[in-house]
Amino acid sequence: MENNKRKELKVSAIRNGTVIDHIPSEKSFQVLRMLNLDTYSNQIYFGTGLESQKFGKKGIIKISEKYFADEEISKIALVAPSATLIEITDYEVTKKEQVHLPEYVEKIVKCFNPKCVTNIQDVKTNFRVITDYNGEMKLACHYCEKTMSKENIEFK
Ligand code: CTP
Ligand code: ZN
Repeated sequence: MENNKRKELKVSAIRNGTVIDHIPSEKSFQVLRMLNLDTYSNQIYFGTGLESQKFGKKGIIKISEKYFADEEISKIALVAPSATLIEITDYEVTKKEQVHLPEYVEKIVKCFNPKCVTNIQDVKTNFRVITDYNGEMKLACHYCEKTMSKENIEFK
């Protein structure tokens, strides 16, 4: 009991907003950075290297009064597919779901092929989300047909 109480106090509860939980520990700072919360003025709580039964170590980000749009959820899913998105209303959990990728990822990712038309002209990128023979997620560019693995993903 004593021990449970201490765990709860690691990262404070929020009243309204979104919790991104179960982020692989080593991705925590990247997720925080890519959400561009630098100028956000409401409360944000951030924890990393926290103990987790499922992950060994995990990160968590709690953002008051913030509800993510699909594009931001796709970004989170690309970097931290294991993450859970939790909506909090008046201190209660009102929604909880694993982040998921759409069939197509539009606009948010750059093509890693410098010769791709999307890097030369003002054309929005568009990638089909595929799974290769190893079960790894990849992005196939609609324009140049090159396939990008996770390590090559850069956001616009
Ligand atoms: N949470 C929060 N503020 C609240 C309520 C919950 O920040 N007012 C956070 C909790 O700290 C937790 C997450 O939202 O990280 C999910 O809450 P809950 O479902 O109550 O926790 P668990 O049962 O521990 O969830 P799981 O087993 O999925 O980790
Ligand atoms: Zn391309």
